[in-house]
Amino acid sequence: MSISLIGRSVGESATLKLNEVAAILRAKGEPLIHLGGGEPKTKSPIDAITAVSGLLNSGEIRYTPADGIIPLKQAVIRYTEEFYNRKVEPENVIASSGAKQAIMVALQAILDPQDEVIFPAPYWVSYPEMVKLCGAVPVPVLPEDGSFYPRMQDIEQNVTSYTKAIIINSPNNPTGAIYPKAFIADIVQYCENKGIYLIMDDIYHRLIFDGRKTISCYDYATDFTDNSKLILVNSVSKQYAMTGFRIGWAVANKKLIEVMTNIQGHQTSGPPVLMQKAATGAINGVQSSVESLRLTLENNRNVMMEQLNAFDGIRAVKPDGAFYTFVDFSKYNSNSAELANFLLEKVRVATMPGVEFGLDGYLRLSTCGTIKDIIEGVERIKWALDPNSPNELYIGERKLVRDWI
Ligand SMILES: Cc1ncc(COP(=O)(O)O)c(C=O)c1O
Repeated sequence: MSISLIGRSVGESATLKLNEVAAILRAKGEPLIHLGGGEPKTKSPIDAITAVSGLLNSGEIRYTPADGIIPLKQAVIRYTEEFYNRKVEPENVIASSGAKQAIMVALQAILDPQDEVIFPAPYWVSYPEMVKLCGAVPVPVLPEDGSFYPRMQDIEQNVTSYTKAIIINSPNNPTGAIYPKAFIADIVQYCENKGIYLIMDDIYHRLIFDGRKTISCYDYATDFTDNSKLILVNSVSKQYAMTGFRIGWAVANKKLIEVMTNIQGHQTSGPPVLMQKAATGAINGVQSSVESLRLTLENNRNVMMEQLNAFDGIRAVKPDGAFYTFVDFSKYNSNSAELANFLLEKVRVATMPGVEFGLDGYLRLSTCGTIKDIIEGVERIKWALDPNSPNELYIGERKLVRDWI
């Protein structure tokens, strides 16, 4: 079989794969605890559901413009004004099938083969593969001080004449770190001065803790012309618990949005109209579900930290937002893929290996499940790894005997 170079260079989505494995185990009746997931378990907002049901009942479900329906663009314009204090026009907005597609078409619009794209590590699993899909070169940058907070010097050291774009994701998947305001200000100004595209993946920007305020990249931008290199990406997936609806968007200069629209028009056409209606309903509707999700996630984060603080040999940094804790398990096993497989096999706890996010020895533990899952999940992991744990563990009626330490 003859497969393209790009096809061969791209790996499977580790997160989607884990979801599949988890679903299979659950279907077999296994007592699985899924601490690997990346989606809230709450219901989608009622405003999303009512917005879509009228159109669904009409049975007239048609194509939309390639860049999205006007009401959704208007909702995004209002959203951008509310959260970013920036007034944009419909020509500055494209709606896509998830933030994933918005990022993908942005990369396709700006990258040539051999171009380089920098992003801080640990990073969201899809960035390297998306860059590779464009024939370009991913350049992950691990902060030299060993923290989860990139510094300008880390980024600048990796900029070359091939650097076409930088992707910043804060709050970050997988660490939950919110990069400091000063860093966001510096990176926006640096990219503007250097003419480098800056993709701000703000998908978790409202899911933040400890009284933090959302940070607007536009506060530090000065160029709002068609030369602007700032691309802001967001989505209904996480904040409204609407992962299955597949609606995200990008805000950027009009020329770039036009090119992205042309690409999307040939790729998928506009996103499904029903989903766009639902997203419009969510963005324009009552926002209490976002605050309630945020509070739940903050509480879950606190419970997760309590559990982890009582776990010898690991290192966990308190997340500032999102729904992940990125934990250093290297004292137990520096091969995170091996460790994740071991935990799935022995105690039926699904976790995401850090190597998928560019940092081996770590596991990403998700806090978007129930408190019970968090407590029991960490207890099972501790039992499997900590030599001081008792020899037996009960999962429901099932008795596990530890014969590996
Ligand atoms: C950082 C980040 N960006 C983008 C996405 C994709 O979001 P969407 O579901 O809107 O495509 C995810 C999903 O996990 C994510 O974590």
